[in-house]
Amino acid sequence: MSFEVSKKAAARAAIGFVEDGMIVGLGTGSTSLFMVGLLAEKVAAGLNIQAVATSEAIAAEARRQGITLVAEYPNFQRVDLTLDGADEADGEGRLIKGGGGALLREKLVAMASTRLVIMIDESKRVQQFGENWPVPVEVVPFGWARLHKRIEDLGAQVQLRQKDGQPFHTDQGNYIFDCRFGPMEQPEKIHAALIQLTGVVETGLFLGLTNTLVTGCESGEAQMQHFYPAPPTYLTV
Ligand code: A5P
Repeated sequence: MSFEVSKKAAARAAIGFVEDGMIVGLGTGSTSLFMVGLLAEKVAAGLNIQAVATSEAIAAEARRQGITLVAEYPNFQRVDLTLDGADEADGEGRLIKGGGGALLREKLVAMASTRLVIMIDESKRVQQFGENWPVPVEVVPFGWARLHKRIEDLGAQVQLRQKDGQPFHTDQGNYIFDCRFGPMEQPEKIHAALIQLTGVVETGLFLGLTNTLVTGCESGEAQMQHFYPAPPTYLTV
């Protein structure tokens, strides 16, 4: 099942948070592609925004559809609002991201954002965090086999992500390990253990970052959950 109707419903609802004059972070993945299409329609109708893209793929799509990236791109100072997808989300808004391999740029943009709105379809909602998806971990290629073993020693089944029979490369030229920990009681501890290993660049655990979770349904409707108050602007500039 592609969940196309649900994804479009989530994207449509999320677009409602975009206001004139904003710098908007563009997520990566199929839901974000729908969102960029809808945003482009608004831009064509006169909405004035600038965008920060979380991957080369979404940057190319934004340009193709007439959405202006910030003048300094790929550098940027701040983002007012980011609209992004996720691979898994629990009832607290904790996320696993990186199914498309863009987790590092997605986290950099999310961290710079005053508000993070996550768009998912119903299949992404889980009762137990980590029950469906492995945690993608971006690592430097040099010496990856030893790092692979060290992450296995933390209790995960680890797979080097492949594409066309070769290691998958991120936009930064790094590798991705897909690390299956199973349901995680304390993902914060897993993130902390991973991030301190030399060679780990970032993890796909997005914890305490979601402001609004938009879940699209096959009925075409979308449900919203709000979590953490958006930090005041002075803390994010
Ligand atoms: C990209 O690296 C991921 O974090 C995506 O945001 C995630 O895979 C969502 O993908 P879909 O919108 O295609 O489900």
